[in-house]
Amino acid sequence: CRIRNYKFNVVMTNTTKLCKSKQIVTVNGRFPGPTIVAREDDIVTVKVVNHVKYNVSIHWHGVRQLRTGWADGPAYITQCPIQPGGIYVYNFTLTGQRGTLWWHAHVLWLRATVHGAIVILPKLRVPYPFPKPNKEVVVVLGEWWKSDTEAVINQAQKLGQAPNVSDAHTINGNPGPIASCLANGGFKLHVDQGKTYMLRIVNAALNEELFFRIADHKLKVVEVDALYVKPFTTDTILIAPGQTTNAIVTATQKAGKYLVAVAPFMDAPIAVDNFTATASLHYSGTVTSTVTKLVAPPPQNSTPVANTFINSLRSLNSATYPAKVPLTVDHSLFFTIGLGINPCKTCVNGSRVVADINNITFVMPTTALLQAHYFNISGVFTDDFPSKPLMPYNYTGTQPTNFATNKGTKLYRLPYNSTVQLVLQDTGMIAPESHPIHLHGFNFFVVGRGIGNFNPNKDPKNFNLVDPVERNTVGVPTGGWTAIRFRADNPGVWFMHCHLEVHTTWGLKMAFVVDNGKGPNESVIPPPSDLPKC
Ligand code: C2O
Repeated sequence: CRIRNYKFNVVMTNTTKLCKSKQIVTVNGRFPGPTIVAREDDIVTVKVVNHVKYNVSIHWHGVRQLRTGWADGPAYITQCPIQPGGIYVYNFTLTGQRGTLWWHAHVLWLRATVHGAIVILPKLRVPYPFPKPNKEVVVVLGEWWKSDTEAVINQAQKLGQAPNVSDAHTINGNPGPIASCLANGGFKLHVDQGKTYMLRIVNAALNEELFFRIADHKLKVVEVDALYVKPFTTDTILIAPGQTTNAIVTATQKAGKYLVAVAPFMDAPIAVDNFTATASLHYSGTVTSTVTKLVAPPPQNSTPVANTFINSLRSLNSATYPAKVPLTVDHSLFFTIGLGINPCKTCVNGSRVVADINNITFVMPTTALLQAHYFNISGVFTDDFPSKPLMPYNYTGTQPTNFATNKGTKLYRLPYNSTVQLVLQDTGMIAPESHPIHLHGFNFFVVGRGIGNFNPNKDPKNFNLVDPVERNTVGVPTGGWTAIRFRADNPGVWFMHCHLEVHTTWGLKMAFVVDNGKGPNESVIPPPSDLPKC
């Protein structure tokens, strides 16, 4: 194994998009930021130097951080943020992980412009479990606002209003040509007929699940969230914020240009945003060709297209890569997730719209939770997060009125190596909506999914405990539920939240505290000496 050293200078960068220039926060002046490349089991160090006036922290989304929670990154969860002028070296090992992950700022909405890909190649001489593609390409999908990100946050956070809908989506930083602004042609991928290309797709958008399509080309999905899946072929990929997908495209077509289209999936009866971003495949020798094959993304509310994609996902579950689904359950948890209106006397952070898990709107602490846990500092959090809703109701039917949320910094405590089954139930408070839920520190198996209210007597009989897809971020369907299982084999404090940034801002988040085990390698390592202070 090797040590891979990176330096991230967090700086202000003048950027022009949609015919408008503004200053944005970037790493090393780039949007998207630099790609980290390493191999399985390598050690990665990233020296982050904060040259901007904002607090900064970086999360390595999907990196398990076995016992190294100090390097996980979410501000006030595992570390205090790096203050202006501050430096922090993230140091972690990619133990047993390979595939595409990504990194992003994890404080307020800074991740809008502070993000990039992590490419973890297999160990030397270890092949992919599929034919090696001729070329690999990182494709980062983002979201762009003409106004300052601060104005966008304020609308959601201070005013408690619905999010300001973005002005464009981007593919590797470029929205593609748009009628109102003579931009360049968008991201181009040059291909040779007959060759294969593995796209490492990252959804770094703040608030949108996205459909991805290429004109006249099929996509063979081989991996999601850095875990191999049984390969399957599709016209359309669905990817939620936080998720990554590796798909192989074979250049089967003739001379010409083939458009790539990216547009939102949203089947909730709320926000509309139908902006399509485009990029293109250019077959070699035909760059000047005027023939462009167009492609239309699925309509925004295409639930069947989304379901077909999701239902195709299975763990590879081969002899080399077995699916180690926990077959017994020590902790059976049932969490409702949703939005709510808080009667304004008890507004959280001045918000009117709030979001909650089991009716608890999470309040960010001012001391990092991992420090409070490690050093036994009392008064920072409580570990009484409820294992089920305090008051059951018809989650997807008529909602109770005047259902104000409670607030608190509550965690759920898990003994080392215990197994967890967690059913995430969407609710119709305000409106049902799909929520991509991300768990830090673990991968989990998605053992079940359904529409309506979860039925504890019936639904578990249909769980897939053989080859369920394993991932770190999963969509809970609009007006439905998703069941996941994982083993709490990573001591520390691990954040879980909706990866729609606006919902996290409103409080759709909680954390697990996993106690140390008794064995020699079952405890959180001591904090590094340069860990930022609050
Ligand atoms: Cu990708 Cu807690 O985030």
